[in-house]
Amino acid sequence: MKAPIALDLKLIEEIVSPAEMDAAARATEAAAQSLLAKSGLGSDFLGWVHLPKEAAKAASAVVKAARSFANCSDIVCVGIGGSYLGSRAVIDSLGGGKKTRIHYAGHHLSPTSFSRLLKSLNPKKTGLVVISKSGTTTEPAVAFRILKSWLEKGAGRAKAAKRIVAVTDAKKGALRGMAAKEKWATFVIPDDVGGRFSVFTPVGLIPIAASGLDITKLLKGAQDAAAAVQTKPFAENLAMRYAAARNLLYRKGKTVEVMANFRPELHFVAEWWKQLYGESEGKDGKGLFPAAVDLTTDLHSMGQYLQEGKRNLFETMLWVKEEEGDLKVPRDPKDLEGLNFLAGRNLSWVNEQAMRGTAVAHQDGGVPVIRLTLDRLDEYTLGYLFYFFEFACGVSGYLLGVNPFDQPGVEAYKKNMFALLGKKGYERLAAQLKSKGV
Ligand code: PA5
Repeated sequence: MKAPIALDLKLIEEIVSPAEMDAAARATEAAAQSLLAKSGLGSDFLGWVHLPKEAAKAASAVVKAARSFANCSDIVCVGIGGSYLGSRAVIDSLGGGKKTRIHYAGHHLSPTSFSRLLKSLNPKKTGLVVISKSGTTTEPAVAFRILKSWLEKGAGRAKAAKRIVAVTDAKKGALRGMAAKEKWATFVIPDDVGGRFSVFTPVGLIPIAASGLDITKLLKGAQDAAAAVQTKPFAENLAMRYAAARNLLYRKGKTVEVMANFRPELHFVAEWWKQLYGESEGKDGKGLFPAAVDLTTDLHSMGQYLQEGKRNLFETMLWVKEEEGDLKVPRDPKDLEGLNFLAGRNLSWVNEQAMRGTAVAHQDGGVPVIRLTLDRLDEYTLGYLFYFFEFACGVSGYLLGVNPFDQPGVEAYKKNMFALLGKKGYERLAAQLKSKGV
């Protein structure tokens, strides 16, 4: 079966030659083998490797739960990091939520943003999906408390309970206890799947299904990607080649990877990718820094840096061949702005020339460019792309020599925040922070 994504490494060859890529085959295949054999670092968190097939078997329960929101005009998904980025990436890029609008909360602590959201909603027609593996993360816990009280006040406790779905750990955490007491519908985040690898669990699937998108196709894409990247040899394996290329670029001083898309609707695909790679690789004083730009928009803000700034960057350009709809540039008899040379041209063609021109300009400027082309934007292709990125991330982490499946660094800010918020047990840390003048 032909993959719906293609990887082009031609524009990195001045820095990483095809021979160097070939020489990386053994180590990369060994890293992939460690993932499959569960013999590498963090092997307790490899539940995502075979997840797409298992998730497909349980998809009907997810679709049924999503239907419980059928009478809602709006749904608020409460979660942060891996508990919201995957669903948002899929829903935003595919234009889900046409019938039932999807909103997000619990991924920030801004009262202004939150109040604006609440003012736009009717509690009699709003449902909540609360997602937290630990059930204790401060941002979603605070947001959920506010939303739950707002919903119960506006719709009544019994009706509110029928419009709340909780996705959390099977046994542990405050959310699990609350859900049992209040009799909310619940779904489980498997123990062996970390937040950033959870898009194919109910974490991603419930909001995606509730937005009206087809999770069966998403999971089929992921299954086909799994079958390909788990079995193909290095020379034909897109995930292994992407992982090897970025690792070789890193070793040559290209320590920042910039994901560049040419469609605003892909913004959250890049946000999801940033979390996946940033949390998986940024540790032990190592790791590529994942950044993202939306082009051509950011060519007018970040373009100068990309072209001529510090040469520690490489770019991964995400391009989609097919557009959902196209527009033609009209002919204007006066032609005051001199655009008639484009009259009759499709906007998609103009965008494509911008992408081609940018790729070569950046490569000429010393920024190697990996090109990742998707046939189209649909559930199947995104399922394929997300699994491709997950598998490549695991391989890449092993090539780097880190445990790609933990995130010890995320705890430091939480401890300080708890101390400053006056949480019990953090008194000594609060005093230390005070003595630092914080
Ligand atoms: O990838 C991760 O593990 C994190 O980004 C978490 O998803 C995030 O911190 C939210 O955690 P939780 O789902 O426990 O609220």
